[in-house]
Amino acid sequence: MELLDLDLRRRERCRLVATTSDLEGALSLVWRPEWREVALIGDETVVGLHGGAVAHILRGRAGRVEVLSFPPGEQHKVRRTKERLEDRLVELGFDRGCCIVALGGGITMDLAGYVAATFLRGVAHLNLPTSLLAQADAAIGGKTGLNTARGKNLIGAIHQPAAVVLCSELLATLPPREWTEGLVEVVKHAVIADRELFEHLEARADALRRGELDPDVLFRTARIKCGVVEADEREQGLRSVLNLGHTIGHALEMASGHRVRHGRAVAVGLAVEARVAIELSGLPEGEARRVTELLCRLQALERPPVGFDDIVPYLERDKKHRDGQVRMALPRRIGCMDAGEGRYTLAGPETAARRAWRQVEAPA
Ligand SMILES: NC(=O)c1ccc[n+]([C@@H]2O[C@H](COP(=O)([O-])OP(=O)(O)OC[C@H]3O[C@@H](n4cnc5c(N)ncnc54)[C@H](O)[C@@H]3O)[C@@H](O)[C@H]2O)c1
Ligand SMILES: [Zn+2]
Repeated sequence: MELLDLDLRRRERCRLVATTSDLEGALSLVWRPEWREVALIGDETVVGLHGGAVAHILRGRAGRVEVLSFPPGEQHKVRRTKERLEDRLVELGFDRGCCIVALGGGITMDLAGYVAATFLRGVAHLNLPTSLLAQADAAIGGKTGLNTARGKNLIGAIHQPAAVVLCSELLATLPPREWTEGLVEVVKHAVIADRELFEHLEARADALRRGELDPDVLFRTARIKCGVVEADEREQGLRSVLNLGHTIGHALEMASGHRVRHGRAVAVGLAVEARVAIELSGLPEGEARRVTELLCRLQALERPPVGFDDIVPYLERDKKHRDGQVRMALPRRIGCMDAGEGRYTLAGPETAARRAWRQVEAPA
């Protein structure tokens, strides 16, 4: 079992623990005695698969455990679902001493985390991610939120979980397509900060595609994200590096009306942005190619169903957009991001992005 303490400036502490299968032991390391009541929140699929076993373990720690669920899918990561969950918490009489346990994928982390951020002006929450994407990314860092008809993650809060428990056994039931979604975020973290991890992913690509993941990889990925969040929780600079692949990725997700899911969209984003990086931040061409090749070997890179012109309006709505220019977080080398004069993003790559998009659409 591996343990990591995330130390945040506002004196909050987030404990992260990783285990292959000892969920009960991992929970006992991070559990706080004041959590006498638990609201276990998850989507219907995950609650159906794991809710009973997890609730059973939690009952050994808390006096009361109630299970609340909502329908799966990005279209349910909205205010209406949050309202329903909140009404239910009020009906059940939960007070400020409760703990919300978020059990599920990234959608549950965002939604249940945001409920915890605002219920009774903020209660404790513990993230128990069950998708690879959530274990590698969404469960860590404290960003919570939901979508509106106008865009993704437009409403939300930063609310750090008191603890994050990564249990790789929970991933066993994940469908293969979801597995690939998560691998993309692992690749992203390696390109951002860990060249050795990237080389490990290259060497093990075939096993990874089949669903075999060395638990150490998860902990390493988590450490990268924790390090960045610790240094810059509120995204004043360094945290922007975590947007690698996401400027193009989010725009593609939106332009396709969510037909292209988050991980697949970020895969295209990583391939395009790596090519942009050749021009803007001096990434060697061979390294950009390695990024694309790894994504292809993981079967994560698919031809986008929309063209570059379709994504342009969404690039203009990107949160990093400044003074009429698109900004991107770009690598100088695999494992090292361009500091961009302290802003960690570079301006003006739309023409470069258009060229790069064409190359990714029609590889030589
Ligand atoms: N807050 C953040 O920092 C952050 C970071 C990255 C992504 N996100 C968000 O995360 C979301 C995507 O996350 P996701 O891909 O995990 O989506 P998700 O929560 O919808 O999970 C994907 C699907 O897998 C199912 N599932 C999850 N775990 C399972 C398991 N163990 N067994 C069987 N089925 C399982 C779910 O029911 C769902 O159908 C997006 O909304 C994205 O915006 C947030
Ligand atoms: Zn992402």
